[in-house]
Amino acid sequence: MASGTKKVFVIGIGLFFSCLLLQCEEVDGREYIVGDDKRWSPDANLTQWTEGKKFKAGDVLVFKYKDPDLIVAAVLDNYLFEKCNLYLGAMNLYTSGNDHVVLKKGTIYFAPYQSPYCENGMKLTVHVE
Ligand SMILES: *[C@@H]1O[C@H](CO)[C@@H](O)[C@H](O)[C@H]1NC(C)=O
Repeated sequence: MASGTKKVFVIGIGLFFSCLLLQCEEVDGREYIVGDDKRWSPDANLTQWTEGKKFKAGDVLVFKYKDPDLIVAAVLDNYLFEKCNLYLGAMNLYTSGNDHVVLKKGTIYFAPYQSPYCENGMKLTVHVE
């Protein structure tokens, strides 16, 4: 009994210190599942999804998808994003299907790298304070 209690205590201390080391994301930034229950998919209304959300630097967007055609391109250039020219515009690709993107201040755009999803309107614009 006593050793069980001790173990829990030690784990607690361990978590506390790893939290300090990793600056505990829960405290620093919020984590958002893009598209909520629809995830990163053509079924999600991404415009609606961003409504009422205030993104801050350090927040994390999680892109969840199974279809490899949905690999995520992050774009900084508004013009290339509007044109869905992701081949030129993508500054980063996220390909794991469970991609965590830490936000920085500014505006960043996301779309599936493979056409024709972007042309069909699967686009996400995020303003980060
Ligand atoms: C997505 O949501 C926006 C804002 O609520 C709405 O204006 C738009 O019609 C929706 N798009 C689709 C395809 O449902």
